[in-house]
Amino acid sequence: MIKDFIKNLKPSSTLLINEKSNKLESEGKKIFKFGFGQSPFKVPQKIIDELKNNAHQNKYLPMQGLEDLRISIAKYISKKKGQEYSSSNIIIGPGSKELMFLLQILFDGEIILPTPSWVSYAPQAIIGRNKIKWIETKSENNWFPTAKEIEDIIKKDKKKKYLIFLNSPNNPSGQICTNLDEISKLAKKYNLFFLSDEIYSELTFEDNYKSISNYCPQNTIISTGLSKWCGAGGWRLGYFILPSNLSEITSQLKVLASETFSSVSSPIQYAAIAAHNNEHADYINHSKNILKSVGNYVYENLKSNNVLINKPQGGFYLLPEFVNKKFSTSSEMCNSILKETGVALLPGSDFGFSQNRMLARLSFTDFDGENFMKNTVHNEEINYDKIKIYAPKIIEGTNRLKDWSNN
Ligand SMILES: Cc1ncc(COP(=O)(O)O)c(C=O)c1O
Repeated sequence: MIKDFIKNLKPSSTLLINEKSNKLESEGKKIFKFGFGQSPFKVPQKIIDELKNNAHQNKYLPMQGLEDLRISIAKYISKKKGQEYSSSNIIIGPGSKELMFLLQILFDGEIILPTPSWVSYAPQAIIGRNKIKWIETKSENNWFPTAKEIEDIIKKDKKKKYLIFLNSPNNPSGQICTNLDEISKLAKKYNLFFLSDEIYSELTFEDNYKSISNYCPQNTIISTGLSKWCGAGGWRLGYFILPSNLSEITSQLKVLASETFSSVSSPIQYAAIAAHNNEHADYINHSKNILKSVGNYVYENLKSNNVLINKPQGGFYLLPEFVNKKFSTSSEMCNSILKETGVALLPGSDFGFSQNRMLARLSFTDFDGENFMKNTVHNEEINYDKIKIYAPKIIEGTNRLKDWSNN
């Protein structure tokens, strides 16, 4: 009864590792949850209050999303990007993941995915029956593709339309795309469009964030939402910002939205207005300060001749490569790490790397962010002693992993 191509799909590995870690923990094993990537922080209190105040909102909302919310997002994003967007450029979804899925359903062309790529892009492309072209990137290029690597694919058939996914700061590498200028030139030459997944953009450690939308806004769909910076993954609110020249896509997304989720939960949409009024700079800076300090701690203490890692630049993740380890697959390596050390990681193969590269994604969010925030101020220097008190599992997990890598 089930289509063959659907049968071959597995549940998302990020959600699976969470369940596996919880199960081992319930059996009494000490687990370091470095596999699942979820904000460790609480949603800002004002936004929680807005959700409470709007619990009575019980009407279906417009399929494109609440007009007042789209106006507040348009203002927020226009200011951030220095580009004018209006409410008509925005569509609200139950998480950006669902909107990306609908985009795969409507898109007619080929999908270009850099390796590494977030775990859901490829399965969604397969469900949308789109062909995937992979580009294996290099750590020295910040794990992003070069313009030449992209062009080599396009040149094989210049008539096709291409949609490339660029996710910066990146899950799983924690890196930022720095060669946007050269990549953007391709958009002027070919039928190349970008899905710029900016879900971690508010959590960029340095204040110089630029995305491909700054270089070629007319070819870029921006995807973002509340899940990461606002600690509200479970609220399920994300959105796309589409340029006016791609209004046909916005209209068609609206049709698909109306035939699937109808509209995002009303109380959440009303509460999300308060998330876009520019009042949360301290909360965001505080989150970034903690994440940067914790990420740098793991980076500094894990990197060695045996473990190659790029310094984290934003978000929650590191992508260590265990160069002295010989397993037949990275999944086998991660199972062995979990068994021997209790540290849960995700194998590099889940992000598109070949099985024989001993890469793994490490998420440095296994700490109580609410408590960490409560006991520090937003701009203070966060030293080892603070990390030891408020993120002890990060320290112990890193030590265990380091010992494992040296044996
Ligand atoms: C790179 C990336 N994009 C998108 C998402 C999905 O976000 P949302 O909660 O908006 O669906 C995630 C969440 O894990 C992510 O890591």
